[in-house]
Amino acid sequence: MEVITNPRQMQTLMLSLKRQGKKIGFVPTMGYLHEGHLSLIRCSKKENNITVVSIFVNPIQFGANEDFGRYPRDFERDKSLCEKENVDYIFYPSYEEMYPDGFQTYVEVSELSKGLCGDFRPGHFKGVATVVAKLFNIVCPDNAYFGKKDFQQLKVIQRMVKDLNFPVNVVGCPVVREPDGLAMSSRNKYLSTEERESALYINKALFEAKRMFEDGITDPNLIKERVRQIISQAKHLKEIQYVEIVDSNTLKPVDKVKKSDVLAVAVYIGNTRLIDNIEF
Ligand code: PAF
Repeated sequence: MEVITNPRQMQTLMLSLKRQGKKIGFVPTMGYLHEGHLSLIRCSKKENNITVVSIFVNPIQFGANEDFGRYPRDFERDKSLCEKENVDYIFYPSYEEMYPDGFQTYVEVSELSKGLCGDFRPGHFKGVATVVAKLFNIVCPDNAYFGKKDFQQLKVIQRMVKDLNFPVNVVGCPVVREPDGLAMSSRNKYLSTEERESALYINKALFEAKRMFEDGITDPNLIKERVRQIISQAKHLKEIQYVEIVDSNTLKPVDKVKKSDVLAVAVYIGNTRLIDNIEF
């Protein structure tokens, strides 16, 4: 496994591998890898000749009062996890290499970036779309793998790829959960043992919602109310930012719940913002 930090070197290498007929799979990450990331890497390993993982905590997708400074980072740990998974290349650029002096070009996916997390994290999806566009141009992947836990992010990237004609197949992979149901996230590291117990009410609420739908309830308000009730039982709950049921293509709230709609939530447990979702 090779670690490459220079964007131009990475791009030249990838283009030459492509000329040799290699299929490139790409897993973009911000590091502090967990089983969710490893599941994406395993998918990529199965479907491509070469697997690239990028590790870059992208400052422009964090708001001024968000956790960019304290976002967990441990490159040596990530590197050894990637080695174990037989990753071929890690792309690990510096801030200066990704955003050199004079940088001023951004990508914005206007409609899908509104609502849900977009309402609470202004500029977040513009930062995500911009860095992913750059990474796609640097890594030139055939297939790129994203977790469905960040459902809105996945939709934004799929739209960007379509609208800007990137020759990349974007693959959405299932949410990976801890044995007790908590969705895997690098931010789970912030939770104290007690807060982690509280966080379990999130997945409990989502699975209850799914059960209600399977029992024939299609009124979104009834389901959302029950979800709020369950999450409100969490001792360390600080804030429910949103509980929304949306159409999985438009991300617009629905009047009547149907199969494939998505229930998405964002919740503060203590000072940790957690998101999760479930597909009906
Ligand atoms: O999901 C993430 O880890 C990030 O948003 C991504 C896609 C790597 C862009 O920085």
